[in-house]
Amino acid sequence: MSEQGKSCASFSPVKAQSASDMAKETGGQWNEFFSSVPEPAHFQESIAAVTKFISSKQADQSSRVVMVSSGGTTVPLEQLTVRFVDNFSSGTRGAASTEYFLERDYPVIFLYRAKSLQPYSRHIPSVLDLLELDETSAGVNVKSADVARTRLILEKYMKNKSSYLMITYETLGDYLWLLKGIAQALDCMGPRAMLYLAAAVSDFYVPIHDMPEHKMQSDRKPVIEFSLVPKMLLPLANIWAPNAFIVSFKLETDEDLLLPKALQALEKYQHDIVVANLLTTRKKWVTLVERTGKVTKLVNSTEDRDIEELIVNTVVDKHTEYIIGRPTAQESL
Ligand code: PMT
Repeated sequence: MSEQGKSCASFSPVKAQSASDMAKETGGQWNEFFSSVPEPAHFQESIAAVTKFISSKQADQSSRVVMVSSGGTTVPLEQLTVRFVDNFSSGTRGAASTEYFLERDYPVIFLYRAKSLQPYSRHIPSVLDLLELDETSAGVNVKSADVARTRLILEKYMKNKSSYLMITYETLGDYLWLLKGIAQALDCMGPRAMLYLAAAVSDFYVPIHDMPEHKMQSDRKPVIEFSLVPKMLLPLANIWAPNAFIVSFKLETDEDLLLPKALQALEKYQHDIVVANLLTTRKKWVTLVERTGKVTKLVNSTEDRDIEELIVNTVVDKHTEYIIGRPTAQESL
């Protein structure tokens, strides 16, 4: 039986031995991280929902599943959190990409920051501005100028709403716990699983034992010591889901760093694609870098098109090549 058809069983990892060895050697780092941030309150329920969703897709041997991560992560500064550090991400990349994956028939696990943008509703920033009072029926209507556009969004939403599962997070800790749990659950899909990591993930955090329990008082300067978050791409690509197709994003503000950093990440973590983007131009162009070193610039030339359509279509083609190119279970013995 080919890997594509294999059921929830272990697959032989084909990543370079060096990355896999390094992942095992440095395992203490992320274990330490997980012991210093609490599991999210809804963790068990979320993973149970993910497992059920994957099981419902897995029997169809042509089905693929993608997990899309989306939005920023908060870093709490107090145990009973009043204050936290946040970042700029709005969740456009993840929410838009989810819509285009659904158009390509991928069931999607949408792991998103609470209150960040969501598929379909992202097109309607203010529901109230869309509506008008209907004095005749004492009801409300969608303004006539907006009916066609709203109907199109609603049609797409109705068609696809049962094909995506929404899982929320708020903090960096919640995000990484859920990422690990979802990756491990997806491992049974082998190469048919894709992880598409568009969330903006903090590299710094305050371990729970270094945090005050109560709100910091303002009668003295705060002293906050951040610790480094281990790069989770290493265990993700080599231990938690070693056969999945993994697309990470690289965000920089200095263009000179973009390509070297993307190539360095692929070399180090042995995953499949880095989509490199700059903060200021991320909606206009991105550079797609493959593990082979191939570099493709994707440019959005029109205002009324999302660049995510280009990214997703390219990534889906690469995923197809990846599945076809995988050794069968027999060959990998
Ligand atoms: O949401 P939008 O406003 O639309 O913006 C989209 C985006 C700019 C956030 C998105 O396109 C993007 O670039 N996301 C990745 C941002 C990021 O975390 O970049 P990074 O260079 O810090 O990290 C690179 C990769 O390492 C990321 O895929 C991340 O998942 C991973 N990582 C990060 C930190 C960490 N501790 N472990 C990780 O594995």
